[in-house]
Amino acid sequence: MQWRSLLLGLLLLRLGLQALLALLPALAPGLCLRRRPPFPFPFPPRAPAPGRALWVPAALPGGGEGAAGGGEDEYEARYGRAFPPQLRARLRDAARRMFAFGYDSYMRHAFPSDELDPLHCCGRGPDRDDPTNLNINDVLGNYSLTLIDALDTLAVMGNSSEFQKAVKLVIDTVSFDKDSTVQVFEATIRVLGSLLSAHIIITDTKQPFGDMTIKDYDNELLHMAHDLAVRLLPAFENTKTGIPYPRVNLKRGVPPDSNNETCTAGAGSLLVEFGILSRLLGDSTFEWVARRAVKALWSLRSNNTGLLGNVVNIQTGHWVGKQSGLGAGSDSFYEYLLKSYILFGEQEDLEMFNDAYRNIQNHLRRG
Ligand SMILES: *[C@@H]1O[C@H](CO)[C@@H](O)[C@H](O)[C@H]1NC(C)=O
Ligand SMILES: *[C@@H]1O[C@H](CO)[C@@H](O)[C@H](O)[C@H]1NC(C)=O
Ligand SMILES: *[C@@H]1O[C@H](CO)[C@@H](O)[C@H](O)[C@H]1NC(C)=O
Ligand SMILES: *[C@@H]1O[C@H](CO)[C@@H](O)[C@H](O)[C@H]1NC(C)=O
Repeated sequence: MQWRSLLLGLLLLRLGLQALLALLPALAPGLCLRRRPPFPFPFPPRAPAPGRALWVPAALPGGGEGAAGGGEDEYEARYGRAFPPQLRARLRDAARRMFAFGYDSYMRHAFPSDELDPLHCCGRGPDRDDPTNLNINDVLGNYSLTLIDALDTLAVMGNSSEFQKAVKLVIDTVSFDKDSTVQVFEATIRVLGSLLSAHIIITDTKQPFGDMTIKDYDNELLHMAHDLAVRLLPAFENTKTGIPYPRVNLKRGVPPDSNNETCTAGAGSLLVEFGILSRLLGDSTFEWVARRAVKALWSLRSNNTGLLGNVVNIQTGHWVGKQSGLGAGSDSFYEYLLKSYILFGEQEDLEMFNDAYRNIQNHLRRG
Protein backbone atom coordinates (compact mmCIF):
# COMPACT_ATOMS: atom_id res chain seq x y z
CA MET A 1 0.00 0.00 0.00
CA GLN A 2 1.12 3.50 -0.75
CA TRP A 3 1.35 4.81 2.80
CA ARG A 4 3.86 2.17 3.67
CA SER A 5 6.32 3.27 1.05
CA LEU A 6 5.75 6.87 2.05
CA LEU A 7 6.47 5.93 5.64
CA LEU A 8 9.69 4.31 4.55
CA GLY A 9 10.45 7.38 2.49
CA LEU A 10 10.05 9.54 5.55
CA LEU A 11 12.28 7.25 7.55
CA LEU A 12 15.00 7.44 4.93
CA LEU A 13 14.62 11.18 4.59
CA ARG A 14 15.03 11.54 8.32
CA LEU A 15 18.13 9.34 8.45
CA GLY A 16 19.60 11.28 5.55
CA LEU A 17 18.80 14.64 7.07
CA GLN A 18 20.21 13.69 10.42
CA ALA A 19 23.47 12.61 8.83
CA LEU A 20 23.55 15.73 6.73
CA LEU A 21 22.82 18.11 9.57
CA ALA A 22 25.33 16.38 11.82
CA LEU A 23 28.02 16.73 9.21
CA LEU A 24 27.27 20.23 8.05
CA PRO A 25 29.20 22.20 10.64
CA ALA A 26 32.37 20.32 9.74
CA LEU A 27 31.85 20.43 6.03
CA ALA A 28 30.62 23.94 5.49
CA PRO A 29 30.88 26.15 8.52
CA GLY A 30 29.72 29.12 6.50
CA LEU A 31 26.38 27.52 5.80
CA CYS A 32 25.60 27.17 9.45
CA LEU A 33 25.90 30.79 10.39
CA ARG A 34 22.57 31.48 8.89
CA ARG A 35 20.20 29.07 10.57
CA ARG A 36 16.95 28.78 8.78
CA PRO A 37 14.13 26.46 9.64
CA PRO A 38 14.58 23.39 7.45
CA PHE A 39 11.01 23.59 6.22
CA PRO A 40 8.94 26.53 5.09
CA PHE A 41 7.11 27.96 8.07
CA PRO A 42 4.33 28.00 8.92
CA PHE A 43 3.09 24.90 7.20
CA PRO A 44 0.08 25.62 5.09
CA PRO A 45 -2.70 23.19 5.92
CA ARG A 46 -3.26 20.70 3.19
CA ALA A 47 -6.57 19.79 1.72
CA PRO A 48 -7.56 16.22 2.44
CA ALA A 49 -6.86 14.19 -0.67
CA PRO A 50 -10.05 12.71 -2.02
CA GLY A 51 -10.31 8.95 -1.95
CA ARG A 52 -7.48 8.52 0.52
CA ALA A 53 -7.70 7.38 4.08
CA LEU A 54 -7.15 10.38 6.34
CA TRP A 55 -3.96 8.99 7.73
CA VAL A 56 -2.15 8.46 4.46
CA PRO A 57 1.07 10.44 4.88
CA ALA A 58 1.03 13.69 3.02
CA ALA A 59 3.77 15.01 0.83
CA LEU A 60 5.46 17.95 2.47
CA PRO A 61 4.39 21.29 1.05
CA GLY A 62 6.29 22.21 -2.07
CA GLY A 63 7.16 18.61 -2.71
CA GLY A 64 5.83 16.22 -5.27
CA GLU A 65 4.14 12.94 -4.50
CA GLY A 66 6.09 11.17 -1.77
CA ALA A 67 7.79 13.07 1.01
CA ALA A 68 11.29 11.81 0.35
CA GLY A 69 11.12 12.54 -3.35
CA GLY A 70 9.59 15.93 -2.64
CA GLY A 71 12.28 16.97 -0.18
CA GLU A 72 15.25 15.89 -2.26
CA ASP A 73 15.49 18.75 -4.72
CA GLU A 74 15.34 21.44 -2.09
CA TYR A 75 18.08 19.79 -0.06
CA GLU A 76 20.14 19.01 -3.10
CA ALA A 77 20.04 22.67 -4.05
CA ARG A 78 20.96 23.87 -0.59
CA TYR A 79 23.53 21.32 0.50
CA GLY A 80 24.56 19.45 -2.66
CA ARG A 81 27.77 21.41 -3.16
CA ALA A 82 28.99 20.91 0.39
CA PHE A 83 28.17 17.23 0.26
CA PRO A 84 29.19 15.89 -3.15
CA PRO A 85 28.36 12.35 -4.29
CA GLN A 86 31.86 10.94 -3.71
CA LEU A 87 31.98 12.17 -0.14
CA ARG A 88 28.49 10.88 0.41
CA ALA A 89 29.49 7.43 -0.82
CA ARG A 90 32.57 7.40 1.40
CA LEU A 91 30.62 8.38 4.48
CA ARG A 92 27.87 5.92 3.63
CA ASP A 93 30.45 3.12 3.56
CA ALA A 94 31.94 4.31 6.82
CA ALA A 95 28.47 4.29 8.39
CA ARG A 96 27.94 0.74 7.09
CA ARG A 97 31.23 -0.44 8.61
CA MET A 98 30.48 1.26 11.88
CA PHE A 99 27.04 -0.34 12.08
CA ALA A 100 28.37 -3.80 11.20
CA PHE A 101 31.07 -3.46 13.87
CA GLY A 102 28.52 -2.53 16.52
CA TYR A 103 25.97 -5.10 15.47
CA ASP A 104 28.44 -7.98 15.12
CA SER A 105 30.05 -7.16 18.45
CA TYR A 106 26.66 -7.09 20.15
CA MET A 107 25.67 -10.43 18.64
CA ARG A 108 29.01 -12.02 19.51
CA HIS A 109 29.47 -10.72 23.06
CA ALA A 110 26.12 -9.55 24.40
CA PHE A 111 23.04 -11.15 22.82
CA PRO A 112 20.51 -12.05 24.32
CA SER A 113 21.25 -9.27 26.83
CA ASP A 114 19.88 -5.83 26.08
CA GLU A 115 23.11 -4.17 25.11
CA LEU A 116 26.86 -4.50 24.96
CA ASP A 117 28.74 -3.01 27.88
CA PRO A 118 31.68 -1.63 25.92
CA LEU A 119 34.09 -1.38 28.85
CA HIS A 120 33.72 -4.97 29.97
CA CYS A 121 32.88 -6.37 26.55
CA CYS A 122 29.94 -8.37 27.80
CA GLY A 123 26.19 -8.20 27.85
CA ARG A 124 24.26 -5.82 30.06
CA GLY A 125 20.62 -5.90 31.20
CA PRO A 126 18.54 -4.25 33.90
CA ASP A 127 20.25 -3.40 37.19
CA ARG A 128 18.12 -5.51 39.55
CA ASP A 129 20.34 -4.72 42.52
CA ASP A 130 19.64 -1.02 42.25
CA PRO A 131 16.12 -0.18 41.06
CA THR A 132 16.97 3.53 41.34
CA ASN A 133 19.56 3.17 38.59
CA LEU A 134 17.15 4.74 36.12
CA ASN A 135 19.78 5.43 33.48
CA ILE A 136 19.95 1.70 32.94
CA ASN A 137 16.56 0.44 34.10
CA ASP A 138 14.44 2.91 32.13
CA VAL A 139 15.83 1.55 28.90
CA LEU A 140 17.00 -2.02 29.42
CA GLY A 141 13.98 -4.28 29.89
CA ASN A 142 15.66 -7.68 29.56
CA TYR A 143 14.19 -8.04 26.07
CA SER A 144 17.25 -8.06 23.76
CA LEU A 145 16.80 -4.37 23.13
CA THR A 146 19.70 -3.92 20.71
CA LEU A 147 18.57 -6.75 18.45
CA ILE A 148 15.07 -5.29 18.17
CA ASP A 149 16.41 -1.79 17.74
CA ALA A 150 18.68 -2.91 14.88
CA LEU A 151 15.98 -4.58 12.76
CA ASP A 152 15.02 -1.65 10.58
CA THR A 153 18.63 -0.53 10.24
CA LEU A 154 19.53 -3.96 8.85
CA ALA A 155 16.79 -3.49 6.29
CA VAL A 156 17.86 0.05 5.38
CA MET A 157 21.40 -1.33 4.93
CA GLY A 158 19.92 -3.77 2.42
CA ASN A 159 21.18 -6.79 4.39
CA SER A 160 18.26 -9.13 3.79
CA SER A 161 19.92 -12.32 5.04
CA GLU A 162 20.79 -10.77 8.40
CA PHE A 163 17.42 -8.99 8.59
CA GLN A 164 15.62 -12.29 8.11
CA LYS A 165 17.83 -13.99 10.66
CA ALA A 166 17.30 -11.22 13.21
CA VAL A 167 13.53 -11.15 12.73
CA LYS A 168 13.35 -14.91 13.32
CA LEU A 169 15.51 -14.53 16.41
CA VAL A 170 13.23 -11.82 17.80
CA ILE A 171 10.13 -13.92 17.12
CA ASP A 172 11.66 -17.06 18.64
CA THR A 173 13.45 -15.64 21.67
CA VAL A 174 12.00 -12.30 22.82
CA SER A 175 9.23 -12.09 25.39
CA PHE A 176 7.78 -9.04 27.12
CA ASP A 177 6.47 -11.05 30.05
CA LYS A 178 9.27 -9.70 32.21
CA ASP A 179 9.39 -8.30 35.71
CA SER A 180 11.00 -5.13 34.37
CA THR A 181 9.99 -1.58 35.21
CA VAL A 182 10.78 0.45 32.11
CA GLN A 183 10.06 3.94 30.95
CA VAL A 184 6.95 4.04 28.76
CA PHE A 185 8.59 6.47 26.36
CA GLU A 186 11.81 4.47 25.95
CA ALA A 187 9.96 1.20 25.40
CA THR A 188 7.73 2.94 22.88
CA ILE A 189 10.34 4.62 20.72
CA ARG A 190 12.91 1.84 20.83
CA VAL A 191 10.92 -1.36 20.99
CA LEU A 192 7.38 -0.66 19.82
CA GLY A 193 8.66 1.55 17.01
CA SER A 194 11.21 -1.00 15.85
CA LEU A 195 8.72 -3.87 15.85
CA LEU A 196 6.24 -1.81 13.85
CA SER A 197 8.88 -0.62 11.36
CA ALA A 198 10.12 -4.15 10.81
CA HIS A 199 6.55 -5.42 10.40
CA ILE A 200 5.83 -2.74 7.80
CA ILE A 201 9.09 -3.45 5.98
CA ILE A 202 8.31 -7.18 5.83
CA THR A 203 4.78 -6.68 4.57
CA ASP A 204 5.51 -3.83 2.15
CA THR A 205 4.49 -4.97 -1.33
CA LYS A 206 7.15 -2.72 -2.91
CA GLN A 207 10.15 -4.03 -0.91
CA PRO A 208 12.30 -0.93 -1.50
CA PHE A 209 15.37 -2.29 0.35
CA GLY A 210 15.60 -5.61 -1.46
CA ASP A 211 13.76 -8.75 -0.51
CA MET A 212 12.95 -8.34 3.19
CA THR A 213 10.02 -10.72 3.18
CA ILE A 214 9.99 -13.52 5.74
CA LYS A 215 8.88 -17.00 4.77
CA ASP A 216 5.64 -17.98 6.53
CA TYR A 217 5.47 -14.59 8.27
CA ASP A 218 2.21 -14.46 10.18
CA ASN A 219 2.28 -10.89 11.59
CA GLU A 220 4.26 -12.10 14.59
CA LEU A 221 6.01 -8.75 15.05
CA LEU A 222 2.70 -6.92 15.00
CA HIS A 223 1.37 -9.31 17.64
CA MET A 224 4.47 -8.67 19.74
CA ALA A 225 4.00 -4.92 19.35
CA HIS A 226 0.40 -5.33 20.47
CA ASP A 227 1.46 -7.39 23.47
CA LEU A 228 4.01 -4.78 24.52
CA ALA A 229 1.59 -1.88 24.05
CA VAL A 230 -1.05 -3.59 26.19
CA ARG A 231 1.59 -3.91 28.91
CA LEU A 232 2.24 -0.15 28.65
CA LEU A 233 -1.44 0.82 28.82
CA PRO A 234 -1.72 0.78 32.66
CA ALA A 235 0.44 3.93 32.60
CA PHE A 236 -2.55 5.77 31.15
CA GLU A 237 -4.94 4.69 33.90
CA ASN A 238 -5.54 6.41 37.25
CA THR A 239 -4.04 9.66 36.10
CA LYS A 240 -6.17 12.71 36.80
CA THR A 241 -4.89 14.65 33.77
CA GLY A 242 -4.69 11.83 31.22
CA ILE A 243 -0.93 12.36 31.11
CA PRO A 244 0.62 8.90 31.58
CA TYR A 245 2.82 7.69 34.40
CA PRO A 246 6.44 7.68 33.28
CA ARG A 247 7.15 4.05 34.18
CA VAL A 248 5.38 0.76 34.14
CA ASN A 249 6.26 -2.78 35.12
CA LEU A 250 5.71 -5.07 32.14
CA LYS A 251 4.20 -7.78 34.34
CA ARG A 252 2.45 -5.84 37.08
CA GLY A 253 1.51 -2.46 35.66
CA VAL A 254 2.29 0.82 37.43
CA PRO A 255 4.26 0.06 40.60
CA PRO A 256 2.62 1.15 43.86
CA ASP A 257 3.62 4.63 45.00
CA SER A 258 4.94 5.46 41.57
CA ASN A 259 6.42 8.81 40.78
CA ASN A 260 3.74 11.24 39.56
CA GLU A 261 6.17 13.45 37.72
CA THR A 262 6.96 13.03 34.07
CA CYS A 263 8.80 14.99 31.45
CA THR A 264 6.95 16.59 28.56
CA ALA A 265 8.74 14.63 25.88
CA GLY A 266 8.27 11.32 27.67
CA ALA A 267 4.53 11.76 28.02
CA GLY A 268 3.86 13.57 24.77
CA SER A 269 5.91 11.59 22.22
CA LEU A 270 3.97 8.38 21.91
CA LEU A 271 1.50 9.26 19.18
CA VAL A 272 3.50 8.12 16.16
CA GLU A 273 3.94 4.55 17.40
CA PHE A 274 0.59 4.25 19.19
CA GLY A 275 -1.19 5.77 16.20
CA ILE A 276 0.37 3.38 13.71
CA LEU A 277 -0.33 0.43 15.99
CA SER A 278 -3.98 1.47 16.30
CA ARG A 279 -4.35 1.77 12.55
CA LEU A 280 -2.64 -1.55 11.85
CA LEU A 281 -4.80 -3.34 14.42
CA GLY A 282 -8.01 -1.44 13.77
CA ASP A 283 -8.20 -0.67 17.50
CA SER A 284 -8.37 3.02 18.33
CA THR A 285 -7.47 2.62 22.02
CA PHE A 286 -3.75 3.19 21.65
CA GLU A 287 -4.00 6.29 19.50
CA TRP A 288 -6.72 7.64 21.77
CA VAL A 289 -4.67 7.48 24.97
CA ALA A 290 -1.58 8.92 23.27
CA ARG A 291 -3.57 11.78 21.76
CA ARG A 292 -5.28 12.50 25.07
CA ALA A 293 -1.85 12.89 26.67
CA VAL A 294 -0.69 15.34 23.98
CA LYS A 295 -3.83 17.44 24.35
CA ALA A 296 -3.57 17.43 28.15
CA LEU A 297 0.01 18.68 27.98
CA TRP A 298 -0.91 21.25 25.38
CA SER A 299 -3.72 22.59 27.56
CA LEU A 300 -1.16 23.27 30.30
CA ARG A 301 0.95 25.65 28.19
CA SER A 302 1.51 29.10 29.63
CA ASN A 303 -1.19 31.67 29.02
CA ASN A 304 1.50 34.33 28.64
CA THR A 305 4.02 32.73 26.35
CA GLY A 306 2.32 29.62 25.00
CA LEU A 307 5.38 27.61 26.07
CA LEU A 308 5.40 24.29 27.93
CA GLY A 309 7.54 23.41 30.92
CA ASN A 310 9.65 20.28 30.96
CA VAL A 311 8.38 18.31 33.97
CA VAL A 312 4.74 18.04 35.01
CA ASN A 313 2.79 16.34 37.80
CA ILE A 314 0.32 13.98 36.11
CA GLN A 315 -2.22 14.24 38.96
CA THR A 316 -2.26 17.98 39.59
CA GLY A 317 -1.25 19.26 36.17
CA HIS A 318 1.25 21.61 37.79
CA TRP A 319 4.59 22.19 36.16
CA VAL A 320 7.35 20.87 38.39
CA GLY A 321 10.04 21.82 35.88
CA LYS A 322 9.17 25.29 34.72
CA GLN A 323 12.01 25.69 32.27
CA SER A 324 10.98 25.64 28.66
CA GLY A 325 13.31 24.62 25.90
CA LEU A 326 14.01 22.34 22.99
CA GLY A 327 16.48 20.02 24.67
CA ALA A 328 16.17 16.80 26.63
CA GLY A 329 12.80 16.50 28.33
CA SER A 330 10.99 18.52 25.67
CA ASP A 331 12.44 17.95 22.22
CA SER A 332 10.41 15.09 20.82
CA PHE A 333 7.09 16.54 21.98
CA TYR A 334 7.40 19.08 19.16
CA GLU A 335 8.96 16.58 16.76
CA TYR A 336 6.01 14.22 17.18
CA LEU A 337 3.41 16.93 16.55
CA LEU A 338 4.82 17.44 13.08
CA LYS A 339 5.47 13.77 12.39
CA SER A 340 1.98 12.84 13.51
CA TYR A 341 0.52 15.39 11.15
CA ILE A 342 2.63 14.09 8.28
CA LEU A 343 1.58 10.51 9.03
CA PHE A 344 -2.05 10.92 9.98
CA GLY A 345 -3.06 14.27 8.49
CA GLU A 346 -4.89 15.55 11.58
CA GLN A 347 -5.23 19.32 11.34
CA GLU A 348 -5.03 19.81 15.10
CA ASP A 349 -1.51 18.37 15.16
CA LEU A 350 -0.39 20.86 12.52
CA GLU A 351 -2.04 23.73 14.36
CA MET A 352 -0.34 22.80 17.63
CA PHE A 353 3.00 22.49 15.86
CA ASN A 354 2.72 25.83 14.08
CA ASP A 355 1.55 27.50 17.27
CA ALA A 356 4.42 26.02 19.25
CA TYR A 357 6.91 26.99 16.54
CA ARG A 358 5.71 30.58 16.59
CA ASN A 359 5.88 30.79 20.38
CA ILE A 360 9.35 29.32 20.41
CA GLN A 361 10.53 31.82 17.82
CA ASN A 362 9.03 34.65 19.84
CA HIS A 363 10.10 33.72 23.34
CA LEU A 364 13.06 31.41 23.47
CA ARG A 365 16.48 32.94 23.84
CA ARG A 366 19.05 31.83 21.31
CA GLY A 367 22.13 30.25 22.80
C1 LIG B 1 24.97 -8.76 6.68
O1 LIG B 1 25.24 -8.70 8.06
C2 LIG B 1 26.09 -9.74 8.56
C3 LIG B 1 26.21 -9.51 10.05
O2 LIG B 1 26.69 -8.22 10.29
C4 LIG B 1 27.43 -9.70 7.85
O3 LIG B 1 28.23 -10.78 8.30
C5 LIG B 1 27.22 -9.81 6.35
O4 LIG B 1 28.44 -9.66 5.70
C6 LIG B 1 26.26 -8.71 5.89
N1 LIG B 1 25.98 -8.89 4.49
C7 LIG B 1 26.00 -7.88 3.63
C8 LIG B 1 25.67 -8.20 2.22
O5 LIG B 1 26.27 -6.75 3.98
C1 LIG C 1 16.03 -11.97 31.95
O1 LIG C 1 15.07 -12.92 31.51
C2 LIG C 1 15.56 -14.27 31.60
C3 LIG C 1 14.50 -15.16 30.96
O2 LIG C 1 13.22 -14.82 31.36
C4 LIG C 1 15.82 -14.62 33.05
O3 LIG C 1 16.31 -15.94 33.13
C5 LIG C 1 16.86 -13.65 33.60
O4 LIG C 1 17.07 -13.89 34.95
C6 LIG C 1 16.41 -12.22 33.39
N1 LIG C 1 17.50 -11.32 33.75
C7 LIG C 1 17.31 -10.28 34.57
C8 LIG C 1 18.50 -9.43 34.84
O5 LIG C 1 16.24 -10.04 35.07
C1 LIG D 1 0.87 10.35 43.28
O1 LIG D 1 -0.42 10.92 43.31
C2 LIG D 1 -1.39 10.11 43.97
C3 LIG D 1 -2.75 10.75 43.76
O2 LIG D 1 -2.73 12.12 43.96
C4 LIG D 1 -1.00 10.00 45.44
O3 LIG D 1 -1.94 9.21 46.14
C5 LIG D 1 0.38 9.38 45.52
O4 LIG D 1 0.83 9.35 46.85
C6 LIG D 1 1.40 10.17 44.68
N1 LIG D 1 2.66 9.44 44.63
C7 LIG D 1 3.80 9.96 45.04
C8 LIG D 1 5.00 9.10 44.95
O5 LIG D 1 3.90 11.11 45.41
C1 LIG E 1 -5.21 30.08 31.20
O1 LIG E 1 -6.44 30.75 31.13
C2 LIG E 1 -7.59 29.90 31.20
C3 LIG E 1 -8.84 30.74 30.95
O2 LIG E 1 -8.65 32.08 31.24
C4 LIG E 1 -7.61 29.20 32.55
O3 LIG E 1 -8.72 28.34 32.65
C5 LIG E 1 -6.33 28.38 32.65
O4 LIG E 1 -6.26 27.77 33.92
C6 LIG E 1 -5.08 29.25 32.46
N1 LIG E 1 -3.96 28.38 32.37
C7 LIG E 1 -2.83 28.59 33.04
C8 LIG E 1 -1.72 27.61 32.82
O5 LIG E 1 -2.69 29.53 33.78
